[in-house]
Amino acid sequence: MILHGMSALVVLAEIYNNVIATDTSPKQLEFATKLPNIRYQQTSPTMSSAELEQKVGAESSVDLVTIAQAMHWFDLPVFYKQVKWVLKKPHGIIAAWCYTTPEVNDSMDQVLERFYKNSYWDSPRQMVDDKYKTIDFPFEAVDGEDSSGPFEFENERWMGLEDYFTYLRSWSAYQKAKEKGVELLSEHVVEEFKRAWGEDENGGQKLVKFPIYLRIGKVGA
Ligand SMILES: C[S@@+](CC[C@H](N)C(=O)[O-])C[C@H]1O[C@@H](n2cnc3c(N)ncnc32)[C@H](O)[C@@H]1O
Repeated sequence: MILHGMSALVVLAEIYNNVIATDTSPKQLEFATKLPNIRYQQTSPTMSSAELEQKVGAESSVDLVTIAQAMHWFDLPVFYKQVKWVLKKPHGIIAAWCYTTPEVNDSMDQVLERFYKNSYWDSPRQMVDDKYKTIDFPFEAVDGEDSSGPFEFENERWMGLEDYFTYLRSWSAYQKAKEKGVELLSEHVVEEFKRAWGEDENGGQKLVKFPIYLRIGKVGA
């Protein structure tokens, strides 16, 4: 299988004999957990057929292509053509998910909503705001389902406020603002978040929910 994105790598490496983890960013690949059955591969933003075959695999050789919070950045017509080429027919699966903004409590979520509404997001982010409902997804429903989604899930994670800030700083909009000399997490905004975070029960940790939206389909004949 191929995995775009690093977060679910460990689980996938337990299920599949061979995992190919691709990203355009060498840094992202450096951060990933290293396991013997995962091959890491830096790829071009839009791969040529030759690069696809060399770095990923031959025609009809892959069981699952999965992409975490990244597909909205891709050149989709080219990507889908390559997914259809590389997946085993007819049962090869593509599963792509996105996650929207984290949910903590009403006051935190209100501060986040104001923070989120900034002008530094690139237009593909809209597909995440739309929970992948509007993203083009030309694949057949998998057995037992009558559509390719989006199907909603939820991921929960215990986080301290510093972990939460680290996550906000990883956002492309935060990075883009920073490059333009704008600190979105200004002292004032940090104070607002601190007030909203509230009491320090559970050692300062809170259960943070990440809504996840999955599009899943099979390649067909
Ligand atoms: C928001 S991060 C998601 C990281 C990881 N998948 C996760 O869920 O934590 C988006 C990732 O997409 C990668 N990316 C952007 N355009 C890409 C492309 N055309 N091909 C492959 N990866 C790409 C970026 O380098 C970045 O690592």
